[in-house]
Amino acid sequence: MRPMIAGNWKMNGTLAALPAFVAGLGRTGTDVDLLICPPFPLIGPMIAALRGTAIAVGAQDCAVETAGAHTGDVSAVLLAEIGASHVILGHSERRADHGETSSLVRDKARTAIAAGLIPIICVGETLDEREAGEAETVVRAQLAGSVPDHFAGLIAYEPVWAIGTGKTPTEADVAAMHATIRAALGRQLGDAGTTMRILYGGSVKPSNAAALLAVPEVGGALIGGASLQADDFSAIAAAAPR
Ligand code: 13P
Repeated sequence: MRPMIAGNWKMNGTLAALPAFVAGLGRTGTDVDLLICPPFPLIGPMIAALRGTAIAVGAQDCAVETAGAHTGDVSAVLLAEIGASHVILGHSERRADHGETSSLVRDKARTAIAAGLIPIICVGETLDEREAGEAETVVRAQLAGSVPDHFAGLIAYEPVWAIGTGKTPTEADVAAMHATIRAALGRQLGDAGTTMRILYGGSVKPSNAAALLAVPEVGGALIGGASLQADDFSAIAAAAPR
């Protein structure tokens, strides 16, 4: 399966800087799946700027409802209409900043799939949970709660303590957690769970991408900070195994 290299811009990026970013991507992405998830107002301009390339554009969240009186929320239906392909759901920053629970994430995933979006459901333990030896239990519980029946999408394993810190788990720890996730997906989803791509996220950069992307069951990367620089994003994509 082709690796997916996805950028999560979080609350970064400007309209003014978009042309330089897109120009800097060059010919990135002929043999990997590439995705960039900018803030909502940049999705349309990003799609326009990337037209003619193979780079997809996604969102970082969507509402659980399809429409209605939900001030400030953005529907999956609208995101799909303007051309977004994917939506990140249950990122640890949304779980922490907005109190998103696994059951809300599961319901959002259902809404997103019904609208034609491909969800990327995020899971990952905190440092306290890892130090207490609970990392795998926590991640298994997040998967059980967040992944709906018949799910068709991607999973991203993002240890909270590795996000934006420059710290990464050892390759052995990534391999162990991805194997745990693969087994849980197989139990939950049957055959579909055996092939679903599982991304690794947390301080992925050009210098560590090749090693992380070569770990068994790592089907790509979800990249925060390094996805803001076109040359870093391209270098990570170039490091993906083919
Ligand atoms: P960093 O790559 O900045 O650590 O962020 C990872 C992340 O949260 C991607 O969703």
